Amino acid sequence: MFSKTLLAIAALAVAAVTAAPSGKGQVSCKHGRKAANAACCVWFDVLDDIQTNLFDGGECGEEVHESLRLTFHDAIGFSPALFAQGKFGGNGADGSIMSFAEIETAFHANGGIDDIVEAQRPFALAHGVSFGDFIQFAGAVGVSNCAGGPRLQFLAGRSNVTQPSPDLLVPEPSDSVDTILARMGDAGFSPNEVVDLLISHTVAAQDHVDPTIPGTPFDSTPGSFDSQFFIETLLKGVLFPGNGSNPGEVLSPLAGELRLFSDGELARDSRTACEWQSFITDHSSMVSKFEAVMSKLAVLGQNPRNLVDCSDIIPVPANTKLPPPTLPAGKSLADVEVACAATPFPAISAAPGPATTIAPV
Ligand code: HEM
Ligand SMILES: *[C@@H]1O[C@H](CO)[C@@H](O)[C@H](O)[C@H]1NC(C)=O
Ligand SMILES: *[C@@H]1O[C@H](CO)[C@@H](O)[C@H](O)[C@H]1NC(C)=O
Repeated sequence: MFSKTLLAIAALAVAAVTAAPSGKGQVSCKHGRKAANAACCVWFDVLDDIQTNLFDGGECGEEVHESLRLTFHDAIGFSPALFAQGKFGGNGADGSIMSFAEIETAFHANGGIDDIVEAQRPFALAHGVSFGDFIQFAGAVGVSNCAGGPRLQFLAGRSNVTQPSPDLLVPEPSDSVDTILARMGDAGFSPNEVVDLLISHTVAAQDHVDPTIPGTPFDSTPGSFDSQFFIETLLKGVLFPGNGSNPGEVLSPLAGELRLFSDGELARDSRTACEWQSFITDHSSMVSKFEAVMSKLAVLGQNPRNLVDCSDIIPVPANTKLPPPTLPAGKSLADVEVACAATPFPAISAAPGPATTIAPV
């Protein structure tokens, strides 16, 4: 069954390459816009449509956060360890979470993801693009809207024909660091790369860990691709923002902010703490490492040689000057639970004024 699938995918990939020769020169798309490859023109139409009708005119809001999360939940359905046991291990960034939504959105770790899957589906259908391509494109476009955001690579041409991912491949917030690093290692990510992927949580909020407080962010600036997440996850936890403790939740430092158990543990584990701390004062490394690790995530289980580079369709993020990394008002360096032994914690200062409550997104 596995080799038959591979053959089918290989045949489709050959067809795609034949239909879209990889000419390097510029081609003209509609409205005088240019792309490196004619096969990329359709993505301008998708871009205009989703910026207006999915992302509220180019915002970095809830649909963007959910779309970025979806890139991961589709792609991480890929396990070489399962293949090695002779089982089907998933086709990775294949759109299976949309093609087989009734199966995959029922997996426990995919709680709440059905909303964005169903919100995105009509756009993919309207433009005749594969679900796997659409999911990665929407995530890349979306995060380019965030202040200080990255410009992710986008390769097009994933097959629309696939199989459902097996369950239990998506990490849970209640998982230990050992479990997360093992699962992510199976998919090809080093411990540092797991931290690099979690840069995504700087533009994130939760709806389902504590369902009584939907829209509760993981840091104080969920619309901004800044370093606050890496600072605030290291502060001593003092409260639960909602209705007490839930599975996958630990004490957070600020009213209106929720900390995942997994984020709190990865911030403090000796294998990941120094990469975590490094992002507090190095925004450009945060951006470039996220770009690098996302180019890996976006093609998990796919053969990038069969894909066409349509990165030029992804908007160049606005050159926003971000405020310097700060301790939230009311906190001091004494509240930081420093976990990286190799490098001193940076001498950041606190915002003035009394402690504030973080607003839901
Ligand atoms: C250790 C691995 C990870 C765990 C355990 C984890 C867990 C979670 C959980 C529990 C939520 C809240 C969902 C909800 O209640 O609505 C969440 C949100 C989110 N995650 Fe992750 N995550 C992980 C890795 C990633 C990665 C690799 C990405 C993307 C590259 C990502 C992007 C996001 C985003 C953007 C949100 C916010 C969604 C929203 O605001 O609606 N996460 N994550
Ligand atoms: C992708 O597959 C879905 C069914 O899962 C189908 O409805 C859709 O039309 C397909 N899209 C393309 C571009 O083939
Ligand atoms: C809050 O949690 C308690 C148990 O800890 C539960 O009985 C109650 O129904 C919860 N409230 C809401 C609004 O979910």
